Amino acid sequence: MENLQEEIQKRRTFAIISHPDAGKTTLTEKLLLYSGAIHTAGMVKGRKGRRAAASDWMAMEQERGISITSSAMQFTYKNTVINVLDTPGHEDFSEDTYRTLTAADCAIMVIDAAKGIEKQTRKLFEVCRLRKIPVMTFINKMDMPGREPLELMNEVETVLQIHSSAMNWPIGLGKEFRGVVDRRRGECLFFAKTSIGGSQKAEITRMPLESVGDSALQEELELLEMAGNPFSREDFLRGAVTPVFFASALTNFGVEPFFDAFIELAPSPGPRLADLPGGGEVVIDPLETPFSGYVFKLQANMDRRHRDSMAFIRICSGKFERDMTVRHHRLGRDVRLARPHSLAAGERSTLDAAFPGDVIGVINPGLFTIGDTLSLKGGFSFKPLPQFQPEIFARIFPKDVGKRKAFDKGVMQLIDEGAIQMLRSFEQERDLLFAAVGQLQFEVMQYRLRDEYGVETAFELLPYQCSAWVEGDLQKFKKPTSALLMQDRQGRPMALFSSQWEKQYCAQQNPQHQLIDVAV
Ligand code: G4P
Repeated sequence: MENLQEEIQKRRTFAIISHPDAGKTTLTEKLLLYSGAIHTAGMVKGRKGRRAAASDWMAMEQERGISITSSAMQFTYKNTVINVLDTPGHEDFSEDTYRTLTAADCAIMVIDAAKGIEKQTRKLFEVCRLRKIPVMTFINKMDMPGREPLELMNEVETVLQIHSSAMNWPIGLGKEFRGVVDRRRGECLFFAKTSIGGSQKAEITRMPLESVGDSALQEELELLEMAGNPFSREDFLRGAVTPVFFASALTNFGVEPFFDAFIELAPSPGPRLADLPGGGEVVIDPLETPFSGYVFKLQANMDRRHRDSMAFIRICSGKFERDMTVRHHRLGRDVRLARPHSLAAGERSTLDAAFPGDVIGVINPGLFTIGDTLSLKGGFSFKPLPQFQPEIFARIFPKDVGKRKAFDKGVMQLIDEGAIQMLRSFEQERDLLFAAVGQLQFEVMQYRLRDEYGVETAFELLPYQCSAWVEGDLQKFKKPTSALLMQDRQGRPMALFSSQWEKQYCAQQNPQHQLIDVAV
């Protein structure tokens, strides 16, 4: 028990959220560098002819140099076990990203100092808010000309509606950026340029603030002291404030103090709520409740050498041991979790034990679907994972009608994995269409149907731009003429709209109904 408590306390499970190009990959790579998992930075990603990223395990990812699948990586930083859940860094994103966030206890939001809050960052932040995940803010690229630090903090507050509190303050901006003030310790940290552009750790020289004798800096800090938000760990953990750090991931300036603050401030795995079969809820405590976890991601054919499907389980409580037999709540039967794997970004290694906060991958012989609860004792299920309103809709057919069977099989597999949603007409059972939250989901679907099932597909994009689940009496629902009413896989009615305006108009026309964006 003592050992378990220790293991829980030293774990930090988090995801990095950002708009593409803000520096998520670079920061992840620096975490690996500072933890000693890699010795030279600059080789993790596959962009621009560099060596392929350790996490780029799908051929398509390599073709495009982006990360489509959400992988998990584990390593140790200063005695703390870090689990990074990789969320895809692409303009377009998918439900996978959302689900991955449900498995995180904390998020790091990376912002480009020149660009501020961008679209994808905002969307992902909303998911964190919904899930009550505390967020730390990393303002990156301070070595480049960018916006004023105060302006960036204000933008966080106004756009994301969360208090921001500066934990450090930059000394010099752009080319002059040479260090940060650690406000909590009243200390200046100056970083030495490393010879090969940030591929090695940056050495730090520490000096008391008073001894630096920079009156302009002193004044800025005094102003911040008076006008800025105070910081408390409790406020951060309940999502009321985000601690802000200024740094440059590329040059390593400010990176190590950020990681140190991260392991100090970020929460270790905490209790989660689960539903009881007869109604009511139960608290699942990571220490007190024997092993439990839930499937947050499925993926078929992940590794060409193995040609199998894997289920990714986030452990919520207790110790997991290899070959453990657990209760599969939905199926109401016991299953053996044989050959569990931990994931060092695509390199599978079999593990013997795992703890709350860890992610394990197990072979999925068709037993698991997204959201399934597994536990040693059974008798509860974790809250269903939220589903987000799709924004892109299409009809997809096999080009060769002779491939219908393979097409159906592939499509069902992708739907089971949660890679894509399928909607069905109320009138005609066979009238189907596919829905996704990002264009990329369709591209992945077509790619995988071709690559894994040998089916070339034709694609027809439909003229709908948003949707909502409809709650209320359907007989009385006044559907705008150009909207379409379909049902999802669970039979829930969903309205598809040609514009946001039409959706708002529909909401006004149907005050007795509720239009729901996130189905929980
Ligand atoms: P992402 O995963 O969020 O998409 O971003 P990524 O880390 O790939 O970074 C995007 C670009 O920004 C990269 O340049 C990267 O080197 C650069 N970058 C990241 N952090 C910093 C920083 O602190 N300062 C500066 N100046 N640049 C930074 P690129 O030219 O697109 O790619 P590459 O040739 O460096 O691979």
